[in-house]
Amino acid sequence: MNLTTSFGGLTLRNPFIVSSCSLTAHPEKNLEMEKAGAGAIVLKSIFEEEIMAQVGNMDHDPLGISGYDYVSFYQKQHCLDEYCRLIRDTKKVCSIPIIASVNCFTGTEWTVYAKMFQEAGADAIELNVMRIVSDYDYDYGTLEQQHVELLRAVKAVVTIPIIMKLGHSFTNVVPLVSRLRSEGAAAVVLFNKMCPLDFDIEKLSVRSGEALSNGSELSEVLRWTALTSAKLPAMPLLASGGVVDGNAFVKVLLAGATAAEVCSVLYKKGVSAITDMVAELNDWMVRHHCENMEQMRGRLNAAHRQDGDRFERIQFFSNISQAKNELN
Ligand SMILES: Cc1cc2nc3c(=O)[nH]c(=O)nc-3n(C[C@H](O)[C@H](O)[C@H](O)COP(=O)(O)O)c2cc1C
Repeated sequence: MNLTTSFGGLTLRNPFIVSSCSLTAHPEKNLEMEKAGAGAIVLKSIFEEEIMAQVGNMDHDPLGISGYDYVSFYQKQHCLDEYCRLIRDTKKVCSIPIIASVNCFTGTEWTVYAKMFQEAGADAIELNVMRIVSDYDYDYGTLEQQHVELLRAVKAVVTIPIIMKLGHSFTNVVPLVSRLRSEGAAAVVLFNKMCPLDFDIEKLSVRSGEALSNGSELSEVLRWTALTSAKLPAMPLLASGGVVDGNAFVKVLLAGATAAEVCSVLYKKGVSAITDMVAELNDWMVRHHCENMEQMRGRLNAAHRQDGDRFERIQFFSNISQAKNELN
């Protein structure tokens, strides 16, 4: 079967993209993932916040010989150079598209980083832009507008494709994706994963929850991919969250995703999961007589409502009455 997938000027041999995470922070590991069958790789994000924390740890000027400004500039430059080296060294050994990932919190830095990474040879830039806002005096729509302005600013300084990785706490992601498309985004990722939150009820403390997905995340990804793809069929959507096996991989493509960005299963099962999931996709296509990706993409999106309005169904009433019947 022909698994070739194209979007925004990138051509992938198949729609399996290794999502940004610490597994993609080493050129030799990236080569292993290419050999296992990955269609593209998103490198581990560079976090401005992390760089600034390192710079902050140095403000005691231990040797007393250099100005703090010089040392902090050097430290920041060092981190950016390291990331450029990761891009260059990965590009030397891999032939699939390599996507750099940026997460900044000050407006100006996004463009500085993106420009450097294009010059280092990245095939595309993913903007890991997820933010949570809980301000009391927040004006609705501000966050969406910030996404649009950020895309505009980065597009003004780079020519490679820009992918916007979105969080999932929007009221309605469809108009945002539509705006991003008209501003020239190559694709959007639905969705980024927030660092999970948990409480320790004995120590009365707040802690991180389980970081790796178990598949339960898939439902919301299917819902919004299917809804968005029905409304904006020409916009490339990259599904991320809960794609933990070959069946889930097939499902997100049927929902209308152009490709899947996959992470947790690679921590759990290793890179052989890539080979298995791509083979399972191929098997499914053989069984369902799909010769290429276009023949399967979006076949179960929200434009096909033969099974009622399940995509927008919120209440459980039919499930509850069914469960009651089963109990009786
Ligand atoms: C351990 C770990 C590290 C991650 N690091 C990043 C990161 O640096 N940048 C980013 O954009 N997403 C990061 N993510 C989110 C993943 O790229 C992915 O979008 C998310 O985990 C959902 O996919 P999954 O269900 O296949 O894990 C990370 C996820 C995990 C579990």
